[in-house]
Amino acid sequence: MVRIVATGAVPHLADRIAEELSSEPADHAVGRFPDGEADVELTQRVRGEDVYLVGSTGPPVDARLVELALLADACRRADAGRVTAVIPYFGYARQDRRSGSGQAVPTRMVADTLQSAGVERVVVVDPHTPSLEATFDVPVESVTAVPQLVDAAQDALPDDTIVVAPDLGGVKLAERVAVALDLPTAVVRKSRLSGTAVETSGLVGDIGDRVPLLVDDMISTGGTLEAATQALQEAGGKAEVHIAAVHGLFAGDALERVGRLPVRQLVVTDSLPIEGSLPVPHRVESLAPRLADAIGRLHRGEGLGELAAHG
Ligand code: R5P
Repeated sequence: MVRIVATGAVPHLADRIAEELSSEPADHAVGRFPDGEADVELTQRVRGEDVYLVGSTGPPVDARLVELALLADACRRADAGRVTAVIPYFGYARQDRRSGSGQAVPTRMVADTLQSAGVERVVVVDPHTPSLEATFDVPVESVTAVPQLVDAAQDALPDDTIVVAPDLGGVKLAERVAVALDLPTAVVRKSRLSGTAVETSGLVGDIGDRVPLLVDDMISTGGTLEAATQALQEAGGKAEVHIAAVHGLFAGDALERVGRLPVRQLVVTDSLPIEGSLPVPHRVESLAPRLADAIGRLHRGEGLGELAAHG
């Protein structure tokens, strides 16, 4: 039997997934000791059940990660049949290698932590790094939200749209959107200066007089979108942008930053809760149907088929 156990990260998404699967989320309590330590307790039996532990590891990233690992450990010790972590937004995926000799490799450390806590399989949605699968020893299933983003965005797109990757790392995701919409692509040359600042140095491709659809895996501070929009306007693009992003972290003053851009439409998924209201025309697409479908297939021992993200 499928059993959903949810961390506090995306309770509405977890409830909707459970509803789609006609399953009741397992009751549990998450508290805090006075010194800040998390204290989790399953208050319902999960013995022998096929547990899907749903929790994004977005802000507050470390607390969400610990909560997820503790709940995995609790499920394992309660004799769950199998524990699959469903992590729609996988934090720390951007730190998958060292760029200096004194640095850690957090993506690997997170994988080790979850595996040692009892996670036997992981489901993610369009992770930042395709190498996530190689970082884990247990199977990693990547679900893609691209068809949903495309469906949601396409009605408002003019005929002269061009799909734009805001950096080289985003080319594959942008190409998948462009193929689905049968549109041309361009890429912004971006370098990251710090966690909040980026700079651009022109484009690869011809933007002409087209309307850009910026496609990114995540919006964190909004710095990438801001810099890309400016680069596109300097290159002669129309003075409006459409944005499609899988994960909306909206860290710091990202909402204000995005609100200052000439955004015609922003499409994002509910892989993370949005704290505050989006100051531009937007659509928030729920991942619940796709994730419920993925969970159902995995429970039945089937592959993800067209739900899977490749490349
Ligand atoms: C970078 O490689 C990612 O794909 C995103 O472009 C980036 O993380 C977005 O962050 P921010 O909104 O802070 O620029």
